[in-house]
Amino acid sequence: MWLIWVPVCFLLFFSILANCFPTDCVHPFPRSYVVYHLNELQEAIHVDGKLNDEAWNSVAWTEDFIDIQGPDWKKPRFRTHAKMLWDDAYLYIGAFLQETDVWANQTKHDSVVYQDNDFEVFVDPDGDTHWYPYINGGTPNSSWEMPTLKSAIFVSGPVNNASLPDKFWTVELALPFSDLVDHSPTASAPPNNKDQWRINFSRVEWHVRNVNGHYEKVPNVPEDNWVWSSQGAINMHLPERWGFIQFSTDAVNTTQFVRTRNWPAYSALVMLYEAEKKFIAVNGYYTANLTQLEIPASLKTGQCQYEPAVQVVKLYNFEATVKPLNQRIPVGHIRDDRFIWFTERDKHNEIEV
Ligand SMILES: *[C@@H]1O[C@H](CO)[C@@H](O)[C@H](O)[C@H]1NC(C)=O
Ligand SMILES: *[C@@H]1O[C@H](CO)[C@@H](O)[C@H](O)[C@H]1NC(C)=O
Ligand SMILES: *[C@@H]1O[C@H](CO)[C@@H](O)[C@H](O)[C@H]1NC(C)=O
Ligand SMILES: *[C@@H]1O[C@H](CO)[C@@H](O)[C@H](O)[C@H]1NC(C)=O
Ligand SMILES: *[C@@H]1O[C@H](CO)[C@@H](O)[C@H](O)[C@H]1NC(C)=O
Ligand SMILES: *[C@@H]1O[C@H](CO)[C@@H](O)[C@H](O)[C@H]1NC(C)=O
Repeated sequence: MWLIWVPVCFLLFFSILANCFPTDCVHPFPRSYVVYHLNELQEAIHVDGKLNDEAWNSVAWTEDFIDIQGPDWKKPRFRTHAKMLWDDAYLYIGAFLQETDVWANQTKHDSVVYQDNDFEVFVDPDGDTHWYPYINGGTPNSSWEMPTLKSAIFVSGPVNNASLPDKFWTVELALPFSDLVDHSPTASAPPNNKDQWRINFSRVEWHVRNVNGHYEKVPNVPEDNWVWSSQGAINMHLPERWGFIQFSTDAVNTTQFVRTRNWPAYSALVMLYEAEKKFIAVNGYYTANLTQLEIPASLKTGQCQYEPAVQVVKLYNFEATVKPLNQRIPVGHIRDDRFIWFTERDKHNEIEV
């Protein structure tokens, strides 16, 4: 073992592939899903809320949703999972939400949907975390906010009748690519084979009780938040922790998801960003001194697979840079407005390893 392990670790160290660095250098990789293109032979998706189109049967479910605070939290009371497909016009999403009591109080458009149970979708086509369509709504009786989207809901039992239990409701969505990429300069509509986008789903579920045949929220009990890829905090607006989808034109189930080599640098950029935001909240300015930031010690002491640095401009602006030790991996950057981008390195400096 020893004789094998040493050279392997040595090799890994020099090719910087992974694993010989402290684990806190990198965030756990989010969940991922390969989205297959609708086959020309299959019937189209009819957005009627029922996930009974032949194409849905051919693709896998995502993993079950977990608590937004992470996998170590209580397992959700009800199962939630989703499927995705695409064609040249739409990203299709089919979600299954197990439920015993379907109720809805919000009936007006633009009502505050998270006061009812709901299903939300977040999409960041170019992964820069900077702008994303926030598709809200989806209780059995409220509409969704993106005007061009097609959506429908099917409920397996009666709505708002506490004397008859339901089993589930399903949500079927068709999100037009042309609108999804509207604020994403580098994303293409429709996507290309192998393109990766960031996405996350959230289900808000209140505890209700039956009072004389109608539903009331159980007082003083907070809502549950269940997500596909856990956020580690009750806040869905952290796109850097969302899941990855990879678009594929290959036959269903014949493609593997490919993890981006940028992930370690991406993680470090987010750690630096969050630490700078904490620092300025307390001190009133940003710092370029990493020892003052709440980041893992391995980042401060240069034990990670990248070199982190922060440049502060006039105390109130910063740009953090993370240079992977492997010269073939692009350099990551993040600004104080959370914009993330990567730059390829000068080919002349490339070091073959
Ligand atoms: C693809 O995999 C899923 C999950 O294992 C399975 O349900 C589905 O039938 C498979 N589809 C095809 C076309 O093999
Ligand atoms: C939705 O709201 C409308 C208007 O309040 C109501 O007439 C209808 O019955 C509701 N539908 C469901 C499924 O609750
Ligand atoms: C609920 O369903 C039961 C059985 O169908 C029916 O008798 C009752 O009137 C319904 N209640 C409401 C509030 O619609
Ligand atoms: C729905 O609204 C009614 C009337 O305001 C209220 O009595 C009931 O508690 C609400 N139900 C839920 C589950 O919030
Ligand atoms: C969804 O967002 C949460 C929080 O940002 C994150 O932890 C989780 O990994 C995301 N889901 C996926 C599939 O990334
Ligand atoms: C960075 O911050 C630490 C802790 O506050 C301090 O001891 C150190 O002198 C600072 N380094 C520089 C170069 O300012």
